Amino acid sequence: MKRIVILGSTGSIGVQTLDVVRRFPDRLQVVGLAARRQDLLSKQAREFGVPYVAIGEGANVQDGFPSNTSVFNEAGSLERLATLPDADMVVVATVGRAGLLATLAALKAGKRVGLANKEVLVMAGSLVTSMAREYGGELVPIDSEHSALWQCLVGEDLSAIHELILTASGGALRDRPLDELSTVTPEEALRHPTWRMGPKVTIDSATLMNKGLEVIEAHWLFNCPYERIRVVLHPTSVVHSLVQFTDGSVKAQLGRTDMRLPIQYALSHPERWEHQELQVDIMKLGALEFAEPEWARYPCLELAIEAGKRGGTYPAALCGADEVAVELFISGRIPLTGIPELVGEVLQAHENLSTPDLDDILAADSAARERCLTLARSRGWN
Ligand SMILES: NC(=O)c1ccc[n+]([C@@H]2O[C@H](COP(=O)([O-])OP(=O)(O)OC[C@H]3O[C@@H](n4cnc5c(N)ncnc54)[C@H](OP(=O)(O)O)[C@@H]3O)[C@@H](O)[C@H]2O)c1
Repeated sequence: MKRIVILGSTGSIGVQTLDVVRRFPDRLQVVGLAARRQDLLSKQAREFGVPYVAIGEGANVQDGFPSNTSVFNEAGSLERLATLPDADMVVVATVGRAGLLATLAALKAGKRVGLANKEVLVMAGSLVTSMAREYGGELVPIDSEHSALWQCLVGEDLSAIHELILTASGGALRDRPLDELSTVTPEEALRHPTWRMGPKVTIDSATLMNKGLEVIEAHWLFNCPYERIRVVLHPTSVVHSLVQFTDGSVKAQLGRTDMRLPIQYALSHPERWEHQELQVDIMKLGALEFAEPEWARYPCLELAIEAGKRGGTYPAALCGADEVAVELFISGRIPLTGIPELVGEVLQAHENLSTPDLDDILAADSAARERCLTLARSRGWN
């Protein structure tokens, strides 16, 4: 029986993680849940008989939690859940910077961390990976592309990687004329062609910021130089990613566009557990098409890769600015094209620290958020 904590249990990844738990009740047990929407959280706590939940700092505890569930609402509650002695594994399914401190705490406590919250690794890849190494924690990917790379790399020597190839569907706007991108509504951008996901990652997919973040994530997870990580467009999202090896052999991982597969793999590894619903009929796959991304359509992709290559606090500034810009777009206050515009300006003004500690990273993130808001206001985007 694996005992797991899920941070962000009410979101898209969190709900699907609980779906996997529901399928394997004799192998998985939930010992902690964290989120802010208490109606759904208390329902989840009741269904899974969860002993510990965290509801967000300072929030009033609403009715509905089982009497034997301890509810945390003080500062540091996510870290407290992430280090529960009862937990074998922590699934970090929060979004943006929310999961950073808890991920570090879990790794410091020697836990296995299933990471969906990619911004954590983007902001603080050096700290997170060295924390895992130093304290014997383990970091396993949940993002489908990185799960695919991980599955292709089982039994392989990382030094034999010629290229990691991340596939991208191109998002909701891949076929929109470029001169119409400034008038795209949040509803249109939120209609992803192949995946159903939370709002931030869906908008990041429309701008391909998401793929840029994934390049940085792959760099840290597989210790691979940026020059050996490539992004290709693959509209149907059947191939989740590929690895080309130094001898010219290419391995790919294919599967349904269903996050329950990478979530389940992270939970079951090194085993594979049967899941009939996720079987693929390869006769129905059709042609597998790949293309170069159209860089002019996706300025966020280049911004992110460049921030990753520059390193230091650039990626934290990128994440902070992007999180704010995406919120402004979703709330109808800036156009979609305002996202790369604001993020680009924030990065241009950013004063980099090349070997940052945690405080430097948090400060860079906060300063970027502030600057992004100020820039938006200065353009009359209120
Ligand atoms: N969704 C996907 O298919 C997918 C695929 C690959 C990677 N990812 C990555 O996985 C992460 C999660 O994505 P998602 O789509 O699941 O996001 P989501 O649907 O927006 O869910 C985010 C979850 O985090 C919780 N949360 C946010 N801030 C929190 C805080 N301060 N304290 C406690 N809980 C907090 C939310 O709680 P409330 O809603 O209750 O406020 C919610 O449960 C993202 O980094 C994304 O890039 C997602």
